[in-house]
Amino acid sequence: PEKYRPTITPDLPNRQWPNQRLTQAPIWASVDLRDGNQALANPMTVEQKLKLWDQLVAIGFKTIEIGFPAASQLEFDFARRLIEENRIPDDVTVQVLVQAREHLIKRTYEALQGVKQAVVHVYNTTSTVQREKVFCKSKADIKAMAVQGAKWVQSYAKEHPESNWVFQYSPESFSQTETDYAVEVCQAVMDVWQPTPDNRCILNLPATVESTSPNRFADQVEYFITHLKNRESAIISIHTHNDRGCAVAAAELSLLAGADRIEGTLLGNGERTGNMDIVTLAMNLYSEGIDPQLNLSNPDSWVPVIEEVTKIDTHVRHPWVGEAVYTAYSGSHQDAIRKCLMRQKDDEPWNVAYLPIDPKDLNRSYEAIIRVNSQSGKAGAAFVLTQEYDLNLPKWVQQDFAPVAQTIAEQAGGIVSHQMLYDAFIQHYRLD
Ligand code: KIV
Ligand code: ZN
Repeated sequence: PEKYRPTITPDLPNRQWPNQRLTQAPIWASVDLRDGNQALANPMTVEQKLKLWDQLVAIGFKTIEIGFPAASQLEFDFARRLIEENRIPDDVTVQVLVQAREHLIKRTYEALQGVKQAVVHVYNTTSTVQREKVFCKSKADIKAMAVQGAKWVQSYAKEHPESNWVFQYSPESFSQTETDYAVEVCQAVMDVWQPTPDNRCILNLPATVESTSPNRFADQVEYFITHLKNRESAIISIHTHNDRGCAVAAAELSLLAGADRIEGTLLGNGERTGNMDIVTLAMNLYSEGIDPQLNLSNPDSWVPVIEEVTKIDTHVRHPWVGEAVYTAYSGSHQDAIRKCLMRQKDDEPWNVAYLPIDPKDLNRSYEAIIRVNSQSGKAGAAFVLTQEYDLNLPKWVQQDFAPVAQTIAEQAGGIVSHQMLYDAFIQHYRLD
């Protein structure tokens, strides 16, 4: 990240930009194996979950939600495999989800028997519409459900003192809950757990369905944080979904509003339009010189694992890691890139037009950046011939050869290989 610096936003006349930008990575929690998995038409097998688990650990996640062990035998068995096969490194904490219901909480602790440390994540919905139309319960009743759930989580933990437990509570659909009521419910949960600054609980604020603009969601988060009495005893976690396409923006603004932790999935698989994409947020940070604390540097090794277990292809234009993101087709882009690359010095911060980061940092090759097709002007052909074949073409040759390159691209029906281009060049100037 030293190679990058914060994006310069030119000042507008008479306007002071608030100097708010992120300066460090959040605490990450991957929910690929739980929220991601529950969104799949064919949920993962235990073997697939193990494969994804290994990948998440390799990338560097320190908290991984592994599933809902009380919900199915497969999820239960997966938790047991991780624990019994000693697959959980000492610095990684597993997290499990459970509803605020006693028999489910009891079963969850059975699944976790013998774990060194775990986050027990209990939730119930607090949204207005669910209170009124689904549960037909009052605010007080829903709060009582949360409090009761918190008590069960705590009392079953006491029966398993051999493990270190961290408690997490989510007011599901936080974004569709009156924010002062969400504070009241979470405060009541904290009253049960009695966390301290040295032994914090996690309060996770979900946009279960993204139903507001990202700035409004961040306002809710800010209100929540500033009205929570013992904020220093809680890790404030954000769990956004992407229904309006703004899950990453909502997460970034929430961090600026004071949140500490982000839940999401790699490449954004999750219910409906997805969970917050950790890759995008992590790489956004990276491109501004912030160490994301995750090693995403070789997408060619981990993207196929995600695709295999989710059976979802990655869009070619997926931010940062899509196949096409470091390819320039238009001549003016190619020209600008060529000039910037020529002038980019190794000891200076990266500053190349149209390339927000050096593709090499994601193990992408420069060769893929410039292709010559019927759209590209003189610069594309010149770039390939210079880079690949060490031919330093004077300007008049670049101009002279451009129509030749375009003609062969048209004849080839699209993209011209570097070799075709070179052969055409040699032939055109009778250099052989
Ligand atoms: O989206 C959501 O609300 C969830 C919770 C259960 C945390 O996934
Ligand atoms: Zn979710």
